[in-house]
Amino acid sequence: MFNFLKRLFIKYNSTMEKEIYEQPKIIEELLKKYLLKDNDINIDIPDNIKKIALIASGSSYHSATIAANYLRDNVHCYAQSYYASEFSLVENIDVDNDTLYIFISQSGETADTNKALDIVKIKTDKTLAITNTKNSTLYNNVKYKVLTNAGAEKAIASTKAMSAQMFCLFLIAAKIMKTRGIPVGSLVEELQKIPAVIKSTLEKRKLINNFSKKLSNYENAAILASGMFYPLAKEGALKIKETSYINTTAYPTGEFLHGHIAILNKKCAVIALVNNNNVDFTLKILEKIKNNYSTDSFIISAFNINVKKQKDIICLESYNDIEFLFSALIIEQMLAYETAVLLGRNVDKPSGLSKIVK
Ligand code: AGP
Repeated sequence: MFNFLKRLFIKYNSTMEKEIYEQPKIIEELLKKYLLKDNDINIDIPDNIKKIALIASGSSYHSATIAANYLRDNVHCYAQSYYASEFSLVENIDVDNDTLYIFISQSGETADTNKALDIVKIKTDKTLAITNTKNSTLYNNVKYKVLTNAGAEKAIASTKAMSAQMFCLFLIAAKIMKTRGIPVGSLVEELQKIPAVIKSTLEKRKLINNFSKKLSNYENAAILASGMFYPLAKEGALKIKETSYINTTAYPTGEFLHGHIAILNKKCAVIALVNNNNVDFTLKILEKIKNNYSTDSFIISAFNINVKKQKDIICLESYNDIEFLFSALIIEQMLAYETAVLLGRNVDKPSGLSKIVK
């Protein structure tokens, strides 16, 4: 806590670093804005939705996929995420009136996402935007609107906008649960803890320094994760690629053994996300890697059962899936940031990238 308070008075070295540290406050404000008495959610959605389609690009797509997994597994609502660029390519895409179409975009000006919205709008007005930008093209063209209120995000790598999107998506999940008569108390309790979870994760920065020093020696990296955390691995890979230019690929943990592991014959670091469901088989895979390849493996773990023997490990104080999602996301952001700084990259403006892809 002391470190976190100290940070409030420290001048940041870059916009990305500042935006990472703004996250607990942003989530606190979202709770104030959207969570009402009796766990009512102050977000307007249409009635009688049977399915949900989530359409977005880049980091926003990863929020979409995490939400789709959660809605399917915990709310028993059929949900599917789509890359906006691919959605627009499908001829005669099936758009129906039982589906809520959720478009997610920090800027609200991403061409692929707005193009997908134009296609959907011809057939239905069940369109909802989750965006950080009021009066953007996306915001103005949907019927239902949710603002992420993260403040202008200036660094090209999305950090605070992505966590705010994820949070709004969980609030929407809570809203749908309420309309379906599913008890929402424990989800709301978990969401209320997220600002504190992020604060305590930000205090792990020293440990991340050690990871980044090693990671910065590699040109390639693989991130492994299972189930609802796989899109989080994809987000980590995107963040590392775009800030440090290390060629990073995400794999579902078990799938990595099916040939992909051959990449370790080249110099390639391994980062593994370990959660409740995959402890044993992740450790087995890491053991196999240790015996057959000479590489550095890093673990980001939800809790410290059975992983104490491991060398490079960050154990997060996260006791459920939602806490792990947010805390592992923050670790990935800091890891990408620190590694890019060590490599002398311009973290706020990576070479050749622009904030809005038009
Ligand atoms: C994320 O770090 C990237 N800069 C990029 O993938 C971004 O998320 C994507 O272009 C989508 O942007 P949007 O959220 O503004 O639509």
